[in-house]
Amino acid sequence: MQEGYIGIDLGTSSVKIILMDEEGKIIRTVSREYPLSFPRPGWSEQAPEDWYEKSLDGLKELVAGMESKIRGISFGGQMHGLVCLDSEDKVIRPAILWNDGRTEKECEYLNNDIGRDVLSAETGNIAFAGFTAPKLLWMKANEPENFAKIKKIMLPKDYLAYRFSGVHATDLSDASGMLLLDVEHRKWSEKMCEICGVEKEWLPQLFESYEVIGTVRKDMADALGFGADVKVIAGAGDNAAAAVGTGTVGNGDCNISLGTSGTIFISSDKYSVDAHNALHSFDHANGRYHLMGCMLSAASCNQWWMGNILRDKDFAGAQAEIKELGTNRVFYLPYLMGERSPHNDPNARAAFVGMSLDTSRADMLQAVYEGVSFAIRDSFEVAKASGIAVPRTKICGGGAKSPLWRRIMANVLNIPVDSIESEEGPALGGAMLAAVGCGRFASVEEAAERIVKTVGTVEPEKDIAEKYEERYQVFREIYPALKPVYPKL
Ligand code: XUL
Repeated sequence: MQEGYIGIDLGTSSVKIILMDEEGKIIRTVSREYPLSFPRPGWSEQAPEDWYEKSLDGLKELVAGMESKIRGISFGGQMHGLVCLDSEDKVIRPAILWNDGRTEKECEYLNNDIGRDVLSAETGNIAFAGFTAPKLLWMKANEPENFAKIKKIMLPKDYLAYRFSGVHATDLSDASGMLLLDVEHRKWSEKMCEICGVEKEWLPQLFESYEVIGTVRKDMADALGFGADVKVIAGAGDNAAAAVGTGTVGNGDCNISLGTSGTIFISSDKYSVDAHNALHSFDHANGRYHLMGCMLSAASCNQWWMGNILRDKDFAGAQAEIKELGTNRVFYLPYLMGERSPHNDPNARAAFVGMSLDTSRADMLQAVYEGVSFAIRDSFEVAKASGIAVPRTKICGGGAKSPLWRRIMANVLNIPVDSIESEEGPALGGAMLAAVGCGRFASVEEAAERIVKTVGTVEPEKDIAEKYEERYQVFREIYPALKPVYPKL
């Protein structure tokens, strides 16, 4: 290795860090877990200090023996989380995360009193619980003493970049999820900042994802054994970074990510919004745009069901018991933390429906994989209804490692699903953005062209896809039937 580029995927359950060489080969991967706390049902918080300490610890292992080769670091980070610093740059309270559902009232205020039309015209989006701006309103109303201390606001990966470089910056893809950005014109919306009580000085400086924001601070460079000029590149929200890492950078290219969250990401050369703002309209890490549907619990449903409930670690063994696709009579709604796209309902909760005395463990596990795939299809249908053609998709994230889940997805969506050599979408995307920022590649597109390799495709199977079409039509009826009950739970 002549030159090393580091990609940090700051996830919800762990940080995954990769070291990539100048040819795009992954040389080493490390990860570190950190806790996630749920102080009340539907709330979700993390300590920014944990992100920093675990990342630093992981970095030491990652670069051991190769310290002097490192040229640049960049990020893919969990989106929307609110990190607030006081006048001494201390974190004021734990970060409120993307899957936190406490802001129902604030979203109602923004969507109904301010109005969806105003929000959409200003930002390209409406308010969803989990977006950053409603969290600021929540803090203002519920923790006025904390709100009064705010001097800087930032997103999770930007906190890391800030600790590494001392520069208060964000990138446009991640900033899009704050509901404070004019996505179309790639600048802060003054009107939204005014509505949310955000002062201009609190806001990070905006960069494109592949731009250099600064260099690694001397004390940190010394601690890691780096040379003097290791560049810090802005990076991207994890979904835009994953899109880079899977080569989803051309107009109409699609990527599905099955991580803690589940997303369907459609890259676009032009800015657009769908009729009801059901999909997020955000900036892309290549200087263009994308549309995205985000479900709050995807691979986490598998972890929850297998790990927390069944206490079984043999995922492959359990999957091997699943024999027939398209005929399962058990349905699963994956709304463990409420749901974002397309229902926008923080009160929704998960459910199994349709069990009988002959229902097996395999049927229920299969229902979990199918329920997540059907929920991805809900957003896919919104894109199709807006006239967007999605002829095929790539797939990444922990869930994408399962051949069974990939096959279910291909049949539920009825399109080919391509697998990429590396499932480390956001971390690889981060390393690629670092390489572009350091001038190794001329553009994000060139990096994708040179580095990303498709290694396999799962084609839909006609008879199974037809059966899933029928099953999906039933699935669609279950959420509306349960919706009136959810607020009473
Ligand atoms: C996207 C979203 C999630 C998180 C997961 O809008 O909220 O995908 O970024 O880390």
